[in-house]
Amino acid sequence: MLEALDRLYEEARNALEAVADSEGLSAWYSRYLGRKGAVTQMVRRVGELPKEERPAFGRRANEVKAALEAAFQARSRAIKEAEIAREVEAGAIDVTLPGRPLPRGRLHPSTRILREIVAILTRMGFQVYRSRDVETDEYNFQLLNMPPHHPARDMWDTFYTTEPGVLLRTHTSPGQIHAMREYAPHPIRVILPGMCYRYEQITARSEIQFNQVEGLAVGRRITMTDLKGTLVEFARQLFGEDRPYRFRCSHFPFTEPSVEMDIQCILCGGEGCPVCKHTGWLEIMGAGMVHPVVLRNGGYDPNVYSGFAFGMGPERIAMLKYGINDIRYFWGNDLRFLEQF
Ligand code: PHE
Repeated sequence: MLEALDRLYEEARNALEAVADSEGLSAWYSRYLGRKGAVTQMVRRVGELPKEERPAFGRRANEVKAALEAAFQARSRAIKEAEIAREVEAGAIDVTLPGRPLPRGRLHPSTRILREIVAILTRMGFQVYRSRDVETDEYNFQLLNMPPHHPARDMWDTFYTTEPGVLLRTHTSPGQIHAMREYAPHPIRVILPGMCYRYEQITARSEIQFNQVEGLAVGRRITMTDLKGTLVEFARQLFGEDRPYRFRCSHFPFTEPSVEMDIQCILCGGEGCPVCKHTGWLEIMGAGMVHPVVLRNGGYDPNVYSGFAFGMGPERIAMLKYGINDIRYFWGNDLRFLEQF
């Protein structure tokens, strides 16, 4: 049977030499080395031999199998290379074609404006403080000087959860309390970026979810002048050196006095147009001196400490800056919109 094995080896090697293409290769493989191949079958017959002949046969069989495997690999490689060379020759593969461009992702406009705002304020010494999206009525309203049934709550239409007293924050201001309670009695300079939620009709001007960036500074002898200086420098960096601005009196329960900051309308330069509703001005944020009640709720003695706070909506600012006329684009996931930034 050893001779039969060697004859088979000889035959298989010759047959492999004659193989010329991929199909021939796989046919050869199943004929000799496959599960039902001739070599495999013969190796199985080792049991028919007398005991003393089995080891020699087994050894030789393994050698033959390994040699044929190796020869098969070498032949496959040669044939594949020849096939590729032939295809290139025939022009089936044009190696001079430019590569296919990979589509490139980019940052969402909200993320971009958020990063721009955060970069300006962190350069000015504010640290980013993260606060939760799911809040309690206590933090979102009560500790911010709005007891239950306070009429000012109407400014924030609220998503309540089925858990009593638990809601989605309507603004980032509850983060002020969290920051103060963490740091009191030390001075604070933080910004709080994050998503806010309001139970509102979705229109071109209002969404049910949007970002805000809150700012808070608490310390000794912090004055309205510090607030103005900070916000003016901020607006200069975001909207340019020469963009006129103004502060208007306003009201928020958690600041006293309260203001709103406007910049001159970017579209009409103050002439009056539909975007600025013919006022020539665009509101960019609310701000004010932290109310004594809020300072006390945060753990600071209002006779010793004072502070300022501000809050703005990055989507709104992006709309003003880039002339976007509908806030619904931000979460509409329309690539034609998103790819413009
Ligand atoms: N939280 C206010 C709003 O959502 C904005 C604000 C923040 C006003 C801080 C004053 C101070 O409208």
